Amino acid sequence: MRFDIITLFPSIFKGPFEESIIKRARQKNILEIHLHNLRDFTTDAHRTTDDVPFGGGGGMVMKVEPVYRALAYVKKQLKEEAKVILLSPQGRTFNQNIALELMRQKNIILICGRYEGVDERVRMYLVDEEISIGDYVLSGGEIAAMVIVDAVTRLIPGVLGNERSAKEDSFYRGLLDYPQYTRPAEFMGWEVPEVLRSGNHQKIKEWRTRKMLERTLQRRPDLLRKARLSPEEKRYLEEIKKSDPKL
Ligand code: ADE
Repeated sequence: MRFDIITLFPSIFKGPFEESIIKRARQKNILEIHLHNLRDFTTDAHRTTDDVPFGGGGGMVMKVEPVYRALAYVKKQLKEEAKVILLSPQGRTFNQNIALELMRQKNIILICGRYEGVDERVRMYLVDEEISIGDYVLSGGEIAAMVIVDAVTRLIPGVLGNERSAKEDSFYRGLLDYPQYTRPAEFMGWEVPEVLRSGNHQKIKEWRTRKMLERTLQRRPDLLRKARLSPEEKRYLEEIKKSDPKL
């Protein structure tokens, strides 16, 4: 899978893309990331990427021509079609389902919006989709692009290797995670639940399923309404609700 990222600040990406899972995915050639400095696609002496808004008002607007040229340059290098995504607070809110959807793409081009806005013609004519990572305003799309690359990369087969697989991740099934513990079994009098030390795999599995349901019910009941539960999970859920009438 290949990501091309068009940004005014390519060096922001250095740390996060050169460590851990993303680093290894790149080394294994499962993942390719290419950074493009938008300023390299300007044609004026001042290398201008923004300008004042038509109609007045404060702030600057990201210009359409450099984005157009950057996209043309990137697309020429690609053998297949690419999905072009603009990061902005006005897009569809990113979630695990969108990550799974994007994982099926061969090429994704991410455009990081900056300044107070982006010329509307970028959205109208150059972009397939606009994505936001949440209802808050960042200084630009760079951190949002990193979030998307990270969430999508860990879903690509072969990336996680022997680590806990993406299938066990919180949200993969639309439920929150069960609690995890590691050694020591007791610290400061704080004990690891007995069942996890019992070696009874059937019991452990059931405990984990119950905890996932309980935690999701307590913290994110909205997710439970959408989750597809097995008959057994539905029964656990009813039992959890009965045991705690506050839930
Ligand atoms: N750019 C600024 N804020 C953003 C957000 N919440 N998501 C994606 N891109 C952004």
